[in-house]
Amino acid sequence: MEIKICRNPSPKEKPSGKLGFGRIFTDHMFVMNYTAGRGWHDARIVPYGPLSLDPSAMVFHYAQEIFEGLKAYRTASGEIRLFRPYENARRMNNSADRLCMPQIDPEDWVTAVKTLVELEKDWVPYEEGTSLYIRPFMIATDAMLGVHPSKTYQFIIILSPVGSYYAGGLDPVRIYIETKYVRAVRGGTGEAKTGGNYAASIKSQEISEELGYSQVLWLDGVEQKYIEEVGAMNVFFKIAGKIVTPALVGSILPGITRKSAIELLRDWGYEVEERRLSAEEVESAAKNGDLEEMFGTGTAAVISPVGELLIGDTHIKINGGKIGPVSQKLYDTLTGIQWGRIEDTRGWITKI
Ligand code: PLP
Ligand code: COI
Repeated sequence: MEIKICRNPSPKEKPSGKLGFGRIFTDHMFVMNYTAGRGWHDARIVPYGPLSLDPSAMVFHYAQEIFEGLKAYRTASGEIRLFRPYENARRMNNSADRLCMPQIDPEDWVTAVKTLVELEKDWVPYEEGTSLYIRPFMIATDAMLGVHPSKTYQFIIILSPVGSYYAGGLDPVRIYIETKYVRAVRGGTGEAKTGGNYAASIKSQEISEELGYSQVLWLDGVEQKYIEEVGAMNVFFKIAGKIVTPALVGSILPGITRKSAIELLRDWGYEVEERRLSAEEVESAAKNGDLEEMFGTGTAAVISPVGELLIGDTHIKINGGKIGPVSQKLYDTLTGIQWGRIEDTRGWITKI
């Protein structure tokens, strides 16, 4: 793949102070076009800026859109590295298949990410716990109001220097269990990373924030009984010494941090069960003292301990609202590998 580079003539000042999440964008973006019969073409890096799209472009009407999220990390010696980028490339192709969108060769996908990050390497922040969030996405661009797959697409990558996703950093978060609305249903698009899933979640997210909670924990869309995932992370529970996480049943995003956490936990000798787990089971484990820890996993959220759940009007306190030893060890190990403090023995790191 040949990538043309057109440099931004007026680069911005790099941010100083608290970065937050996803508010600041770098000077360049990667863009590539797809036309049915021709394939992907015109790979280019151009100044970051507004897109020009027809108001009838299909993405605006029927949400034919998919995205990914990964990060570039700066090590103490100044090296810049990615965490398991081929996993994101593969997951994007799975999402593309579900949304009838074109595949991208994972080698080209990773090359596009690496080339853009290399060009923007001065934007990878230096402070402890910060990184450059990478947001690749694909949109349907046919100017057409019929409900069919588009014949043209754009694949775009934008970059954002970020700090922690939650305002409180590694402090345990409070999570609201949604019992009215659902995010995904059997046979739906839950396991694809597509904007529509997030659009469906916004109302509950708002309710949870009004009640003072950070995010929503979704129950299954059929019986509204079984735990699925949280808005931006997969979830794990430590119940009577065992680690339990909902099985990937089609309505849950197959998280790359989830997969990595399972590998680490099994290496450390923990029994990890991927199975159905009801909210009732969690509630009764909490009552009889068996619920030892709960944490979420995600690229943006990293490892995020959960200190409290709200279901109906029942408050469930977990580990006294403090981070537990398994969450802490996972956080230290995963971030250690990502930021180069711990040797990568699993081939998870791709250097820029
Ligand atoms: N679940 C949802 C709904 C997400 O948006 C994310 C974030 O990407 C995750 C889980 C965690 O996935 P990953 O670990 O690949 O970032
Ligand atoms: C990520 O963790 O990369 C995500 O995509 C979560 C996002 C909803 C902020």
